[in-house]
Amino acid sequence: MQAKDRMIIALDFPTMTEAIELVEKIGDGATFYKVGLELFLNSSGKMIEYLAGKHKKIFLDLKFHDIPNTTAMASVFASKENVFMYNVHATGGKKMMSKVVEEVRKIDEKSLLIAVTILTSLSQEEVKETFMTETSIKDLAMNLARLAKESGMNGVVCSPWEAKYIKEALGEEFKTVCPGVRPAWSATNDQTRIMTPKNAMMNGCDFLVVGRPITKHEDPALAARLVVEEIEEGLKEAGKC
Ligand code: C5P
Repeated sequence: MQAKDRMIIALDFPTMTEAIELVEKIGDGATFYKVGLELFLNSSGKMIEYLAGKHKKIFLDLKFHDIPNTTAMASVFASKENVFMYNVHATGGKKMMSKVVEEVRKIDEKSLLIAVTILTSLSQEEVKETFMTETSIKDLAMNLARLAKESGMNGVVCSPWEAKYIKEALGEEFKTVCPGVRPAWSATNDQTRIMTPKNAMMNGCDFLVVGRPITKHEDPALAARLVVEEIEEGLKEAGKC
């Protein structure tokens, strides 16, 4: 897999006009884009068609969470050409994830089915309040990742700091999709546990989700190129290319 295809640019824009402007500025510099709830709803799903028309690949970040049948049917709809990755909440349970895998694999062998474990916005206090448990977030997340793997899911969203442990526990083939990446030359914004693209690749990340370092850069095409160069360096150091 090319270094460029490990970079997923987060299109965190309220309107399709702004998102298209960015995709056009970057041109051939990126192939993979993340579309989340805001842009998906604001564009009534049309952003997907636009990106597909430009031969881009989409990580559809809608984080499905419902009963097994409903989630599986939504996943079948998500499995359109050019949506190469989408996600469901692992807290929907093993039955739900297994049903997603079963239904999707009848029609689509390739797309990557990714689980969200514990939202990183939740603090340990909130986890205690919500789930009535003293279990650490890390243990809860690892358990959910294991259930995702046992259900046949292809990987998880995780911090680049956790990617190594997940690979060690669940195998090299289990994918790690990592936000919280910041090149040394960019602002940290509201991200706290950050890592550079190079270190993230060396720490077991398969895909990096990068937003503001590229989308807010005065020259987004240049920023994307620099991130890809760092990914390449990290892959070389890790002996992966
Ligand atoms: O702009 P930035 O690079 O921080 O964007 C990262 C993207 O990854 C955003 O779309 C954000 O919502 C998403 N994300 C994250 N942290 C998580 C999960 C998702 O930053 N734990």
